[in-house]
Amino acid sequence: MASQVNPSPTNPKKLAFLFLTTAPLPFAPLWELYFNQSPSALFNIYIHADPTKPYDPPFSGVFANRVIPSKPTERLTPTLASAARRLLAHALLHDPANAAFALLSSSCIPLHSFPFTYRTLTRSNLSFIEVLENEKWAYYRWAARGDDAMLPEVKLEDLRIGSQFWALTRAHARLVASDDSRMWRKFNESCVLYRRSCYVEEYYFPTLVHMVDPPGAASATLTHVRWNGGAHPVMYNALDVGPELIQAMRDSRPRYGYDHYRLNGSRVDPFLFARKFSPVCIHALMGIAKERSLGENWEKNIKLLTL
Ligand SMILES: *[C@@H]1O[C@H](CO)[C@@H](O)[C@H](O)[C@H]1NC(C)=O
Ligand SMILES: *[C@@H]1O[C@H](CO)[C@@H](O)[C@H](O)[C@H]1NC(C)=O
Repeated sequence: MASQVNPSPTNPKKLAFLFLTTAPLPFAPLWELYFNQSPSALFNIYIHADPTKPYDPPFSGVFANRVIPSKPTERLTPTLASAARRLLAHALLHDPANAAFALLSSSCIPLHSFPFTYRTLTRSNLSFIEVLENEKWAYYRWAARGDDAMLPEVKLEDLRIGSQFWALTRAHARLVASDDSRMWRKFNESCVLYRRSCYVEEYYFPTLVHMVDPPGAASATLTHVRWNGGAHPVMYNALDVGPELIQAMRDSRPRYGYDHYRLNGSRVDPFLFARKFSPVCIHALMGIAKERSLGENWEKNIKLLTL
């Protein structure tokens, strides 16, 4: 079976980058620089682009011809989780060397160089997925298909919540892709109650990993995000972007789930990606990435894609 191929020096492990988008990727030029840091294509890119929205595929570069067969996606429905599952299934079959699978959105940027990201993800045999217990809205998410609709597969106390963005091991990617009839069938049902809580992409994956293989995950996401107390994360604008912001993101550490302390001790993992950046940030980000002088901050320029 293809998935049993053993990565070796002649068949090295690769990272699968799964982009979930509805529009052209605003940070494609930044990602191009990033992927050009990979000497021998130690990566694959897969794009899920809602076919009913204007995704305009580029003719050249690393993003050319990377769109997988995609379906419409809509917030507050299971379709976003469905799209992520489609990306995983496609990437698993496409290349047996894909060893880690990172989900990204169009507002995500890399926080470190490609080599740093590659080392971090390929040296770990753990998935990086936030798995939080006792979150405020757990009941509403669990009961959104009607009282007891998730039983017997998923009990309320088994529900876990976390960031939509994760990096899964190949073992966990297969776990998701092979879960058609059991748990996904339940999570894939439409939310009929508490529809404002129907963030399936934020609780299907953490719950599945928690129920099947908690020791296989460092229960944190490596995609940095900042919440300002409201329902939505902070969206950075051009004026927010500078070496200080990038440095602060690199210096901060993820929030681990409860299981972490029992299963994985006191790991401290670096953030590899960050969101949410408004498309207007591209010029500022390219300035940092290309080591151009940033005026007064020149001495402190931290060069986004080094390290
Ligand atoms: C992960 O690696 C550690 C040490 O490198 C090992 O003890 C552990 O069994 C591995 N876990 C899995 C799920 O392969
Ligand atoms: C998920 O739900 C959609 C919409 O009801 C349906 O078309 C699709 O076949 C379901 N997928 C699975 C794997 O059950």
